[in-house]
Amino acid sequence: METAARILSLLRREPVVSGAALAAALGVSRAAVWKHIEALRADGYRIEARRARGYALTGGPDRLLPAEITRHLTTARFGRHLESFETIDSTNIHAARLAREGAPEGTLVLAERQTHGRGRLGRSWVSPARVNLYASFVLRPHLSPVDAPQLALAAAVAVVRALSPLAPGRVAIKWPNDCLLDGKKVAGILTEMDAEVDRVRAVVLGIGVNLNAPSRAFPIELRATATSVLLATGTSVDRPQFTARLCATLEAVYDRVVRDGFAVVASEWESYSCLTGRRVTIDCSGRRSAGTVRGIDPSGRLVLDGAAGEERIMAGDVSIVDGYQGLGRQARRSDA
Ligand code: BTN
Repeated sequence: METAARILSLLRREPVVSGAALAAALGVSRAAVWKHIEALRADGYRIEARRARGYALTGGPDRLLPAEITRHLTTARFGRHLESFETIDSTNIHAARLAREGAPEGTLVLAERQTHGRGRLGRSWVSPARVNLYASFVLRPHLSPVDAPQLALAAAVAVVRALSPLAPGRVAIKWPNDCLLDGKKVAGILTEMDAEVDRVRAVVLGIGVNLNAPSRAFPIELRATATSVLLATGTSVDRPQFTARLCATLEAVYDRVVRDGFAVVASEWESYSCLTGRRVTIDCSGRRSAGTVRGIDPSGRLVLDGAAGEERIMAGDVSIVDGYQGLGRQARRSDA
């Protein structure tokens, strides 16, 4: 552990720790301790100097700093290699670069702000600074490229599991992997793949979660359809802690799906779905399908009852015919 991290861990154990005790525990001079304390303050830690007694840690920064995330991590691989940026073009672009350079599975790229956040279907992802989560994971699944889209569906299950303690029973999935809170979009998932014909080299799993964004952070045209946890619940989210929880839910869901197939989480996915029984139209790269949603099949395709019978759809953009009012899960789970 580096010196600054060791100072933090010592300060977390006692209400006040003297400069002399810190210096002795770390084997450095008191002047060196003071320099590290100053650097930690510059990172946003509130460390008070109590006269004749020592230093007291009274608050942490609301920043996605590696040390803040690592102390909450319970995973074996996800988030254990971590790069965090103040500003980046897109965490997905950087994670793809790391993947090509051989980064291990679970490598996580975070940013406080993205200048070119990417969304599905060539859209952009609004990425205001220091309020949300913009995260990309490097995955190396032993899967056929045709099954790789299932990872995005599985990731939506992990995002719902991570969000559910903050808004129990109110988070839903709109196929394939939009996450909604009270019917408005709170999180999006973008997977990008590097593959040969029959082998996946790497998948970058990009996840954007609107956590503490105020309404003014969204462009006017998105305000009716997008939300954040803060806007919907009135409570702000501890972003480092949420990030660590997402690493844990993702690692658990991913490991199961890669080992046993998507079918093992399909019923959980369906229990979160807001589309079952709804009439929809789906734009599949220019071809339109319409019908009533029956559910998803074990490989993650949307099952639709259309005019010409049953259709199974791999990918597309869904619009709900009757509008988005009252859009919630069709079946409630035990987290409700
Ligand atoms: C969607 O359109 O719903 C998908 C949005 C995905 C956004 C995330 S934010 C982190 C990662 N980096 C990106 O550029 N995009 C993804």
